[in-house]
Amino acid sequence: MHSFTYCVPTQIVFGGESLEKLPELLKERNIARVLLVCGGQSAKKSGLLDRVEGLLQAADVEFDILSGVQPNPRLSLAREGVKKALALSAQLILAVGGGSVIDTAKAVAHGAANPDVDIWEFWVKRAELKRSMPVGAILTIPAAGSETSDSAVLTNDELGLKRGLNTPLNRPAFAILDPALAATLPEHQAACGVTDIMMHTLDRYFNPVCDNEITDAIAEALLRVVIKNGAPVVRDRGDLHAMSEIMWCGSLSHNGLTGLGGNKDFAVHQLGHAVSEKFDIYHGDSLSCVWGSWARYVCPANPARFAQYAHNVWGVQAADDETAARQGIEQTEAYFASLGMPISLGQTRCGVQDEAGLQELAARCSFQKTRAIGTFRKLDFDDMLRIYHMANKE
Ligand code: NZQ
Ligand code: ZN
Repeated sequence: MHSFTYCVPTQIVFGGESLEKLPELLKERNIARVLLVCGGQSAKKSGLLDRVEGLLQAADVEFDILSGVQPNPRLSLAREGVKKALALSAQLILAVGGGSVIDTAKAVAHGAANPDVDIWEFWVKRAELKRSMPVGAILTIPAAGSETSDSAVLTNDELGLKRGLNTPLNRPAFAILDPALAATLPEHQAACGVTDIMMHTLDRYFNPVCDNEITDAIAEALLRVVIKNGAPVVRDRGDLHAMSEIMWCGSLSHNGLTGLGGNKDFAVHQLGHAVSEKFDIYHGDSLSCVWGSWARYVCPANPARFAQYAHNVWGVQAADDETAARQGIEQTEAYFASLGMPISLGQTRCGVQDEAGLQELAARCSFQKTRAIGTFRKLDFDDMLRIYHMANKE
């Protein structure tokens, strides 16, 4: 194993009835005032919001609500949340939802703890985040892993930019994970979630350091479990066994565990962010539509690594590394397709692009040619453009 530091302080309460532990989790932390953050309508429609409000009222916790968080959450709503949190003197920001809601809660927490700094300054690294306030998460969709991750992603709706912020201060204080809360998910959201969970480990697995045996074994096992339970969960979101496996995998896949000791790559995430920044498509769609193209492009840098993945995750037996690698990539793409996920730009809402459109995506991804991405193989503007070209089919 190579060197690493690892600290995930988030208290996890997992399983049926875990929502009932909310008052206890707040009491342990002496929390009397909470800003509740939620999405467009699903939590209201399912009755979850009423349940949470009831628990807060019964525990004499004062609260206000910030609702209307959209997928690819907007900076403007987070700024509104900061005002609400300050007006309430909130002591904790409670997210009821998925990655978009939890990331908004994280942004509100950072803003409320630093009222003199506009939150976007932290996202573009013009200000250093030194303090925040606690966030709690009640997860309704296994996907982004924000409930334990050190990351938060915001879209600046004035500038049209999607950016991530990584800091230990992004780790929530607690996360309530009840698989039953995800049973109301639409089929495609479940598929997007399964894809994103796989991608958080794939984006760590494919890195230049290949001799972290236990990290590799954990990553490969996680991928096998997600692949096994992904299809059942997409078919039937009420399959609580499959959903419970997927939900726990979602948290483990993005809390750092599956990449310890390695130098994570995350190029696919960056390629995808440029697509969802421009077209506002779901995060999962933005990943599956470029993964195969990225994999074929970078594979020659280390075919043996792709062969290891093909063998240990997909059970591929082949005479040589190149053949095994190709089969592993094909099986991964076929799996995404079987979940109804797009595997090309043309299969997403953005459609097949002309040359100017592809150039714009590469410009966005390279921050106007000022950065390279990836570690498995470093990618500059020209590489990004070639990958988008490869993904640009029906
Ligand atoms: O808004 P509502 O009505 O709640 O509907 C949501 C939303 O439309 C719906 N949904 C969620 N739970 C549901 C439900 N519908 C019915 N029943 C339920 N139980 O699902 C839709 C998507 O929600 P969202 O929160 O956007 O999904 P996800 O968890 O995939 O989050 C995606 C966002 O997280 C970011 C992505 O870039 C994207 O902005 N990411 C955050 C990360 C992090 N903080 O660590 C890492 C990821 O790589 C990712 O970048
Ligand atoms: Zn992701």
